[in-house]
Amino acid sequence: MKNTVVTIDGPAASGKTSVSRDVANAMGWKWVSTGIFYRGLAYVALEEKVALDDEKALATLCMSPVWTVEMSPQETYVLYKNKKVSVEVSKEEIGMHASKISQFPLVRQALLAAQRACSSPNYVLVAEGRDCGTVVFPEAALKVYLTATSDSRAQRRALEKSENFQELKDLQKKRDQDDKQRAIAPLQIPEGGYVVDSSTLGQK
Ligand code: DC
Repeated sequence: MKNTVVTIDGPAASGKTSVSRDVANAMGWKWVSTGIFYRGLAYVALEEKVALDDEKALATLCMSPVWTVEMSPQETYVLYKNKKVSVEVSKEEIGMHASKISQFPLVRQALLAAQRACSSPNYVLVAEGRDCGTVVFPEAALKVYLTATSDSRAQRRALEKSENFQELKDLQKKRDQDDKQRAIAPLQIPEGGYVVDSSTLGQK
């Protein structure tokens, strides 16, 4: 039996996490948020005092047993020195660092196998991120590109995290631009992907 994967890619705060988690839970499938791999690496690099512009050292840190990425029906999370660091990793500041280090080919290469290993012939996987439909799982059975206006995306995150709307909007804009313009595995609509605009769809 071959691995079955559904991918959901899109810009920051477009609703990928909520949608992929809810779909997976409703269907009894597994899900993974691939952004957590990049966020986790950024967080652990800061903790371990590895420079965020040292591509080789970051790629080596990907293999370190000091941290792992785990999947549960409720969240994809990072264990750092056996401690769950979900709140720390979810901050927009870590998202910005994650975006910066995600441009390094050695880093992307080092994290790819672990992301692919989240799928198995025994279950259906919903994977969300930026390059899930283009690079991580190009053979996915269904590919979705989830987007929303920058106002509604910043609004959602601001409400969720009680952070400043305008600041979040500016940071997200910069992050999306960098994610779309990077040379390797940029954020883009995958070939054959369905584009869904979630701007006017409410949260539960
Ligand atoms: O989805 P997120 O906000 O957790 O992602 C954080 C950053 O990680 C994102 O700005 C770019 C990077 N990322 C990536 O390059 N490829 C992915 N598949 C997922 C995330």
